[in-house]
Amino acid sequence: IDASHIRNFCIIAHIDHGKSTLADRLLERTGTISDRDLQEQTLDDMDLERERGITIKSHAVRMQHTTDAGETYTFNLIDTPGHVDFTYEVSRALKACEGAILLVDAAQGIEAQTISNAYLALEQDLEIIPVMNKVDLPVARPDQVAMSLEELLGEPAEDIIKISAKTGEGVDELLDLVINRVPPPTGDPDKPLKALIFDSIYDSYRGSVVYARVFDGTLNKGDAMRFMATHQEYDAEELGVLRLGRQKVDTLKAGDVGYIIGSIKDVSHTRVGDTITHKHNPANEAIPGFKKVKPMVFSGVHPSDTEDFEDLRSALDKLQLNDASLTFEPETSTALGFGFRVGFLGLLHMEIIQERLDREFGLDIITTVPNVEYRVRVSEPGDDDQELVIVNNPSEMPHYGDIDAVFEPFVKADIIVPSEYIGNIMQLCENRRGVYVNQRYLDTERVNLQYELPLAEIVFDFYDTLKSVSRGYASLDYEFMEYRESDLVKLTVLIDKDPVDALSTIVHRDKAYEVGRKLAKKLKEKIPKQLFEVPIQASIGRRVVARETVKAQRKDVTAKCYGGDITRKRKLLEKQKEGKKRMKQVGDVEVPQEAFLAILSVD
Ligand code: GTP
Repeated sequence: IDASHIRNFCIIAHIDHGKSTLADRLLERTGTISDRDLQEQTLDDMDLERERGITIKSHAVRMQHTTDAGETYTFNLIDTPGHVDFTYEVSRALKACEGAILLVDAAQGIEAQTISNAYLALEQDLEIIPVMNKVDLPVARPDQVAMSLEELLGEPAEDIIKISAKTGEGVDELLDLVINRVPPPTGDPDKPLKALIFDSIYDSYRGSVVYARVFDGTLNKGDAMRFMATHQEYDAEELGVLRLGRQKVDTLKAGDVGYIIGSIKDVSHTRVGDTITHKHNPANEAIPGFKKVKPMVFSGVHPSDTEDFEDLRSALDKLQLNDASLTFEPETSTALGFGFRVGFLGLLHMEIIQERLDREFGLDIITTVPNVEYRVRVSEPGDDDQELVIVNNPSEMPHYGDIDAVFEPFVKADIIVPSEYIGNIMQLCENRRGVYVNQRYLDTERVNLQYELPLAEIVFDFYDTLKSVSRGYASLDYEFMEYRESDLVKLTVLIDKDPVDALSTIVHRDKAYEVGRKLAKKLKEKIPKQLFEVPIQASIGRRVVARETVKAQRKDVTAKCYGGDITRKRKLLEKQKEGKKRMKQVGDVEVPQEAFLAILSVD
């Protein structure tokens, strides 16, 4: 195909504004898929995605569209993940396009991800087509939403196309708009090869399947490839384009989007954002912007049953094959035994992995409270040399007296909320050590608040609180800014005088007393009475800041079994054993699993 008849674009939107529904409609209108085959939300092919209604991994589909004038165009629709955890993947998927449909729900209006996605698209110099969706809804307020889109993008409100992805209204006009407004790809098929990886998936038979956009040059089947960032070399054994499944081709050239297979057994060799070139006659430089994504949130993941440790390892290995951003290393906890410290891109990523461990691998796991990665400056006694220690597990915090300074990640957060909730949101942000930056009205009712916040505070049930203080109306997006020095201390929890590593946390000094008190109280509720008195303490360094006591109680479960009904007795004992399985032994004390999450409910 002639590049002038190719359009590479994506749909960007806030969650639930109708991206998948529109994608389905486009597939249908272009005859890529018949009505009969059309399953709801075809592009979300993981069960989990469908259930949660979120697109986790990006994919690409090729469609053919013939205009009324009889010209046939090839569309490559590149799907982008919609969640804040995957911003880098979104930016790479956008890079693979020339244009973006910015879809906005005509009832809800602009939300946090509408703005962050629009900015990402502008950064990549994409042609943005604002589109108002769900105009069939009686509660739609298209005029107001159009005004705020004009404000955001400078597109005249009266020109903004109104569609219903549900009924199909306006979708044909949208196809024409894509042809007219999205520029065709430029690039020279005769130059050295430059192809951008915007996604890769793992296929257990074929290895890593790379999704790439060719910017320059031509890749032929059988060519020797080089991955410029990871320095790996493979042969392009199979090339193809993506319809609803894979469709083999012999050549991918400048402007094309397709997949490449080359017996690549390790997904970490095919990093999103890397450039593929030829082994012979390679490109001089890679497409700029490659970055190895780093986990931002960490949590201990331990099997409930210590015997499942090896199963957990192999499950994590398998998940990592599909997901190069997942990291893990073994850790030992006195309370939880052998397990792993697992690094995630963010909270959603963490939830997804935990759920997959449970669902796909049937593993019963205990996870500790998530934390961010800290950088700690320690002063060596006797010399001026100072060293930065990376801490992604609170129990590995250097000794209190040796710490010179602690640095934590800060993010820039955009919160969009109806103006009546501004006060609540500001109070929440102040409570969470937020630094106010700016506030801006999007229209007469809705405000965009900007704050700089410690990521640790967001990890800590921020989103739920945000939703509850705004009756569900606030939306949030954030991106990493920098590491900043903060007055942080490690709060150690001691049960029966023993420090329990899995319960220690890093908190701001101003909050340490309060958190310590509440945590001790919570633990007192969660830990059942034992045969002896159990003190629970919270301390900073050597100083105890809170203390509670679980009183002793003798519990004889068989006392109820008057007479000698042995089966009944056995049943009771059995039941008690069942209950115990969920307990972890800390020294002489039995601590229920839920106690390890107690800190999450301290507020
Ligand atoms: P994520 O994948 O979670 O980001 O959501 P999405 O943006 O893909 O939204 P999705 O297509 O799943 O649509 C969200 C909900 O809005 C679904 O219940 C759709 O049926 C509904 N919906 C989408 N488009 C329209 C529309 O034009 N009109 C109406 N009434 N409902 C729509």
